[in-house]
Amino acid sequence: MKVLVIGGGGREHALCWKLKRSASVGEVVCAPGNPGIAADARCVPVGAEDIKGLMALATTEKPDLVVVGPEVPLVAGLGNRLREEGFAVFGPDKAAANLEGSKSFSKRLMYEAGVPTARFEVHVDVKEAIETIRSWGAPIVIKASGLAAGKGVIVAQTEKEAIDAVRGMLAGNSFGDAGSQVVIEEFLSGEEASCLFIVSGDTILPLASSQDHKALLDGDLGPNTGGMGAYSPAPCVTEIVAEQVLETIARPIIAALKKKGAEFIGTLYAGVMLTDEGPKALEFNVRFGDPECQPLMSRLKSDLGEVLLAAAEKRLDDVTLSWADGSALCVVVASDGYPGLFEKGQMIGGLDAVEAAGTTVFHAGTAEKDGAIVNAGGRVLGVTAVAASVRQAQRTVYDALAALDWPGGFYRKDIGYRAIVREER
Ligand code: AMP
Ligand code: GLY
Repeated sequence: MKVLVIGGGGREHALCWKLKRSASVGEVVCAPGNPGIAADARCVPVGAEDIKGLMALATTEKPDLVVVGPEVPLVAGLGNRLREEGFAVFGPDKAAANLEGSKSFSKRLMYEAGVPTARFEVHVDVKEAIETIRSWGAPIVIKASGLAAGKGVIVAQTEKEAIDAVRGMLAGNSFGDAGSQVVIEEFLSGEEASCLFIVSGDTILPLASSQDHKALLDGDLGPNTGGMGAYSPAPCVTEIVAEQVLETIARPIIAALKKKGAEFIGTLYAGVMLTDEGPKALEFNVRFGDPECQPLMSRLKSDLGEVLLAAAEKRLDDVTLSWADGSALCVVVASDGYPGLFEKGQMIGGLDAVEAAGTTVFHAGTAEKDGAIVNAGGRVLGVTAVAASVRQAQRTVYDALAALDWPGGFYRKDIGYRAIVREER
């Protein structure tokens, strides 16, 4: 079959890489793709947010399956448009994508569904928001309700920090429209994990567990980013925890969506906090995690094309997934300055040597300039290895990164440390 993948980041590179290695897939087309994806798919320069352009592309290419990578086109209704035209689509319709598109909608639905989650309030008024902050005290969590590329969450250690954040969002314009409503949440402590599910109607198929590092700096310090590294499996997600997440978080939220008339076809990503009281939902995404997708695809042994088509065609019931033993770990290499401003167009060398050392280099924010690979985004590369343990996969990636020739890039030096502590206990 022919598969059209929408998107051009590290997640989409991992999806295209795996689809190309699926026996059921003859051709992979990617819009817009990137120079790394070009090794696994035919890239077409149509932006992932250009709904009209994507509809025209689908009409010309006539794919047997469309896989939508990022959340923005899903929230904009690309799934609806494609399904209306008769395409098989992996990715939810707009109403279900709202689970990620609006944190206030998502939190209210969690309450309605009885999904364990942090206490919250939604505010549009600065004064009322400040009253809540003063009454709850710090630490406290402030979130822009709309989409903010993983950066709209401030875990405030002091009341002042929280108040500055709500002022920035509601009175200032720190996250544009996304910040015109804020969600204030009780701070939860514990270890975090990413629990992803392939969903098709009532059928919910768990993927292997994974964990990402959202903070910018070693030791999980500094501001939140889209994710600086990830690995699979996550040792903190035991079989019992996985079962609890499926039964108390994934199933009820999918059922609550259905009750509202929104059927879910696609990836449900539950970000969970493993608290003393059990797993609690932090957020839902409606797509694969980035960078969690990179280690997950590196470990998946099943035919990805077949699995996603079965979900799109509502015959997921008979599907099972198989995974490589051991662990996969991905370290993100980012541009100096990310998640703030950075300089684009810097030459990146040594990529072949990094791969020759036993890794797969998934491209995220790269471009080609005069035959060379240059940085074009904040998160630029996802260097990934599979090995017998997290410790070994980590060693392979960091040893390989010594061959990377890019002075303007940086990466965390401790991806996987929590899992390694557990492994070595
Ligand atoms: P979200 O996009 O809602 O998952 O938030 C991004 C990150 O902020 C999460 O991965 C957590 O690390 C942190 N976070 C979000 N909500 C909470 C909370 N209620 N308590 C503690 N940390 C949180
Ligand atoms: N890695 C976090 C996310 O994809 O939202």
